Amino acid sequence: MALFTSMRGRFLLSILLWVALGIGAIWLSSVRLFTMHVEAQYHEELEVHVRELGALTALDGGGRPHLTRPLSDPRYAEPLSGFYWQVTRPGFGTLKSPSMTRGTLNYDVAHSPRILHRMADGPTGHAIVYGFVRDTTGGAPIHFVIATDERHLQRIITAFTRELTVWLALLALALLASGLAIITFGFRPFNRLSAAIEKLRMGSAARVEGHYPDELHPLVADLNAYVERNGEIVARGRVQASALAHSLRTPLAVITDEAERMLEGPRSGAAEILLNQSERMQRQIDYHLARVRSGGSRVGVSTNCRVVDVLSPLLSAMQRCYPDKTFLSEIAEGNLVPMDADDLNEVLSNLLDNAGKWANSEIRVKADGLHILVCDDGPGVATDRREQVFEIGETGADALGGSGLGLAIARSIARDYGGEITLSASASGGLCARLTPPLPGI
Ligand SMILES: Nc1ncnc2c1ncn2[C@@H]1O[C@H](COP(=O)(O)OP(=O)(O)O)[C@@H](O)[C@H]1O
Ligand SMILES: [Mg+2]
Repeated sequence: MALFTSMRGRFLLSILLWVALGIGAIWLSSVRLFTMHVEAQYHEELEVHVRELGALTALDGGGRPHLTRPLSDPRYAEPLSGFYWQVTRPGFGTLKSPSMTRGTLNYDVAHSPRILHRMADGPTGHAIVYGFVRDTTGGAPIHFVIATDERHLQRIITAFTRELTVWLALLALALLASGLAIITFGFRPFNRLSAAIEKLRMGSAARVEGHYPDELHPLVADLNAYVERNGEIVARGRVQASALAHSLRTPLAVITDEAERMLEGPRSGAAEILLNQSERMQRQIDYHLARVRSGGSRVGVSTNCRVVDVLSPLLSAMQRCYPDKTFLSEIAEGNLVPMDADDLNEVLSNLLDNAGKWANSEIRVKADGLHILVCDDGPGVATDRREQVFEIGETGADALGGSGLGLAIARSIARDYGGEITLSASASGGLCARLTPPLPGI
């Protein structure tokens, strides 16, 4: 499926884009919101801790700070846990949380009585540091500092992000799957429509049948109207062509009659010309009538015709016409020709009629791949005349009362389909007429 040229491809691309945008936006905003929320909670907790530290700190007689009891959060007692506190009274000593087995905290952040925070390096990496300073009566102030490794905060955010990513990926997959289902469902009427049009093309339906969604209704209605109108035009054309042919018949007959009578008179030369020309006109009429009748009416309709179905009745008819000759068929049951049965019938009957007429004793119908051959053991046609005999009214010198239309009609029908009729010499010295069928699907 070409992504840009097919409608399904375009829809699929749009859905992909839409899902990617939607899920991406949800992912970004969720991570941001969660980070803000967790950070706020974390900071609030640290503020409580530093306040508790301040409340628990007392000075002994020598002015040295000490804790009246440990901080309530046990993580400050666990070595290198990432949770540290420090109380410094410059000149009087520094107190550190049991967790801070190495390093010290820079108490710079604790320079204001208001609780302040910033990011700084702690004993075990980057840390969020909170602090404030408390003045004492007489002497140095006390600096309270609380630090927590940033990695704790990061870990929570990373875990959330990972889980969110998995769930959103699943959601994206579900959305894509439902998008595909929607496309498939939405395109069903189009599939039905193309099947209906195929039926129309195959000739198994005369119009596009079935119920279609509102959006396709006008299209189907237009198509049906077009097909109907086309059919009417073709039918009318045929009727008019036959009407014309038939209307010419009577005047032609009168002219012929008159000319025949004139043959006896003094103007017999002119009468002969009249007769000749009338005969030619009659032949032209017969030829075009035959073409209107079979007219390649189903050309472009991809039907396949079983040759035997057409050939068997034809052969028995020919056998009756030419009782002293033998008609043999070597056509297999499976032999198909992509032509309408009526048209194939017209072609084969013309070829068989010629073969029957000219054969000495035997006529053979053979298959050569997809080609059909009608061969006889008659006199054949000289190589230089093999094209000429296809002309309308061409009967040859030794005509057996023919009209000279058969080969012209057969070739014209074959060519309508993209096929051809050619002549060659048969093995027994007679003539082989070959029907080359069109390639299937043309
Ligand atoms: N099987 C054949 N053997 C010999 N000559 C043939 C054969 N088929 C056709 N012809 C020659 O080609 C001419 C034209 O054939 P066709 O168009 O069928 O007209 P018709 O059969 O009415 O004469 C024939 O008059 C004949 O001279
Ligand atoms: Mg003939």
